[in-house]
Amino acid sequence: MPLTNTPNRLNILKSGFEMPEHCGGDHWAILHGDSLQIVRQFEPHSFDAIITDPPYASGGANQNTKNRTTSEKYSSVRGDRALPDFDSDQMDQLSWMFWTASWLQEARRAAKPGAPVCVFIDWRQLPSMILALQWAGWTWRGIVDWDKVSSRPQKGRFRQQVEYVVWGSNGKMPVDRNVGCLPGVYRYPNAQNRIHITEKPLQLMRDLVQICEPGGRILDPFAGAGTTVLAAAMEGYEAVGIEMSDTYFQRSTERLKTALVGG
Ligand SMILES: C[S@@+](CC[C@H](N)C(=O)[O-])C[C@H]1O[C@@H](n2cnc3c(N)ncnc32)[C@H](O)[C@@H]1O
Repeated sequence: MPLTNTPNRLNILKSGFEMPEHCGGDHWAILHGDSLQIVRQFEPHSFDAIITDPPYASGGANQNTKNRTTSEKYSSVRGDRALPDFDSDQMDQLSWMFWTASWLQEARRAAKPGAPVCVFIDWRQLPSMILALQWAGWTWRGIVDWDKVSSRPQKGRFRQQVEYVVWGSNGKMPVDRNVGCLPGVYRYPNAQNRIHITEKPLQLMRDLVQICEPGGRILDPFAGAGTTVLAAAMEGYEAVGIEMSDTYFQRSTERLKTALVGG
């Protein structure tokens, strides 16, 4: 696999930092490791947008329910067909907020002035994510709805049918950026044949990356199945993803190689 566009070649990694295991092609790369460690090794102002879907550490009203595995919390598929669990989703609330504010702070340092940030979150963690984003120094600009179209009916209650994208910018966001008017609500059902428990629909991500100026460089510090990186590459952006889990690093890189390089 030719690595034509690695962060090393792009000169966005600090010199002296040993490049972690990675895989990439033209205009995309996925690095294997802990984003909190890796993001702080990027040169300042390396990215035109941060677009990501971090672990929510959600899935319950108390610590016992939150401590369940990610497949128990976020999927109804059990047994052999269950998808592999992923990391960093069992923290208590204080730890999760501290961790979230920490990586958001590192990501802001790696982002250009004025760069947009978009972070997925569910209804339980929405207030905390809004706080963490601002705590990390980003300017909070709003919430975008992802309407998942269907969800489990609950007698006498509203359906939890929406996830959210908390978004903002690294300080002032010039209005003359070369980006058109974007919607505030996106309506896509969950992806079929997912390879990651919380994989986002590819078309949703292709729509969302449009917040970045054309041809810009996007960072996803929690790549999962690589959906953001794939969407960004398909839309003509450069993209760098980071994934800590061995299984999902392998799955995402296989998926991207197949989709973008032809297997
Ligand atoms: C919610 S999933 C992302 C799913 C992705 N949006 C997709 O469409 O497939 C979050 C991912 O972050 C990874 N992760 C958790 N902690 C991490 C860390 N410290 N550094 C890098 N990746 C991490 C998890 O293994 C998981 O795959």
